[in-house]
Amino acid sequence: MKKRVRNLCVILLVLSMLFALAGCGSAGSSNNGEDKDQNTSVGASQNADAGTVAESTEQPEVQPSDTGTGDSNTLVVYFSRTGEQYTVGVIDEGNTAIVAKMIADQTGADLFEVLPVDDYYPMTYDELTEVAKQEQNDNARPAYAGEVPDLSQYDTIFIGAPVWWGDWPMIMYTFFENNADALAGKTLIPFSTHEGSGLSGFDTKLSSACPDSTVLDGLAIRGNDAQNAQDDVRAEVEDWISGLGL
Ligand SMILES: Cc1cc2nc3c(=O)[nH]c(=O)nc-3n(C[C@H](O)[C@H](O)[C@H](O)COP(=O)(O)O)c2cc1C
Repeated sequence: MKKRVRNLCVILLVLSMLFALAGCGSAGSSNNGEDKDQNTSVGASQNADAGTVAESTEQPEVQPSDTGTGDSNTLVVYFSRTGEQYTVGVIDEGNTAIVAKMIADQTGADLFEVLPVDDYYPMTYDELTEVAKQEQNDNARPAYAGEVPDLSQYDTIFIGAPVWWGDWPMIMYTFFENNADALAGKTLIPFSTHEGSGLSGFDTKLSSACPDSTVLDGLAIRGNDAQNAQDDVRAEVEDWISGLGL
């Protein structure tokens, strides 16, 4: 009898160990749990990032790229966000910024970043989507900071942004409209980063906003690839640029 009780105890012990192991396995493979944790830790660095963005509005607006001289005839204009972004978590360099810099490095272009005045965009993804949706519904024209460089120096202007709700972020329409005269007669080349919507008509919308410019074929890059597959993206950018016939 004693032996039977001991065997039963051993079986119960083994069973409880198996359940414990199974529990660990399912916790480890739960993306939701992991994402939640990531989002929580994101909050702390968002505040730090918000400070950085606010300061960056004080920076000079035109930056020579690594290969650019500051007096190139090609310019890359871009808008991009750090903080929490879809599928990539918290980033300290925006997806579009990464692609913009690749284009500048490959063409020797100068860079101009469109930065909002008094940067009010939230650093959490959900809140940012709400603010962006409201701006789109209001057909808003958010102001950007600083002086746009003298565009008469440039023949070719690459213009890129993240797709926001299937469209250019509204601040880019501010840029197009404020500079429509200076952009007339130029070659404009759109590019986007996105998470599934591709170019989202950036090219036709740019043509409508700047009817006196020539708009060439655009490039769409997944934001996640901009962060995590940079060699592939660099090669894609190179192919695209060489096909533009500049
Ligand atoms: C407000 C908002 C709206 C978005 N809307 C879309 C969309 O309509 N289609 C899409 O594919 N991706 C959408 N995304 C994902 C972004 O386009 C993508 O994460 C992009 O690479 C972010 O680039 P950035 O880091 O340069 O800002 C949206 C992201 C945000 C923040």
